[in-house]
Amino acid sequence: MKVVKTIAEVREQVKQWRAEGLTVGLVPTMGYLHEGHASLIDASHRDNDRTVVSDFVNPMQFGPTEDLESYPRDLKHDTELAEAHGCDMIFNPEPEEMYNKNFSSFVDMTVLTEELCGLSRPVHFRGVCTVVSKLFNIVKPDRAYFGKKDAQQLAVIRHMVDDLNMDIEIIGCPIIRESDGLAKSSRNTYLNDNERKAALILSQSLEIGKSIIKNGVTDCKEIISAIKTKIESEPLAKIDYVKIVDVETIQQIEKLDRPALCAMAVYIGKTRLIDNFFTEDI
Ligand code: PAF
Repeated sequence: MKVVKTIAEVREQVKQWRAEGLTVGLVPTMGYLHEGHASLIDASHRDNDRTVVSDFVNPMQFGPTEDLESYPRDLKHDTELAEAHGCDMIFNPEPEEMYNKNFSSFVDMTVLTEELCGLSRPVHFRGVCTVVSKLFNIVKPDRAYFGKKDAQQLAVIRHMVDDLNMDIEIIGCPIIRESDGLAKSSRNTYLNDNERKAALILSQSLEIGKSIIKNGVTDCKEIISAIKTKIESEPLAKIDYVKIVDVETIQQIEKLDRPALCAMAVYIGKTRLIDNFFTEDI
């Protein structure tokens, strides 16, 4: 497996693979890989002849007060994990390689990005759409793989690919959890022992939401209220949002009369964690 730092090296390698008639899958990541990323690499390895993992902490998707500097990085660990799961090339550029000093073009979206995480992270999706477009242009994959934990990001990427006629199949992969239910995230590493225990409140409260829905409740206010009550029972937790939205428009709905996404962002201490479920997966 190769680790490459430049756009030219990626293009050269992909050109060779294309000349051999091979298909290419892309797994975009910000590194510090865990089993969630491994499942995306596995899926790409299964579906494609070659798999590229991008490993780049994208400054453009972090707000001024967010955790860009402290975001965990470990290229050696990433290389071992990616290789073990069938990755053929890691693209690990420096920020200057991705954004030269004259950089001034952005991919922005006027729908889907104003709700949920977009409310508290106003520049986030512009940064995600811009870097993912660049990665798509650099790698030109047949397929690209994203986790359903970032459900809004997945909807945004699908919409962007459709709007801009990008000839890439977007594959959404299931959330991977620790054995006690906590969704895998590179940010879990910020949690101390007490916060790690407290963080279980996210998945536990979502389970309450699911069981209410299974019992036939369709009123979103009632479901959200039960979820919030559970989260508020945990002293270390502070709710950013708990919402139920239409899966396609990412607009809030009153009743569960269509496929919906129940999503939350909760601070555990200083760490902001997200989790969700799709009603069609219950
Ligand atoms: O989901 C992530 O890790 C990032 O948002 C992505 C898609 C790699 C873009 O930087």
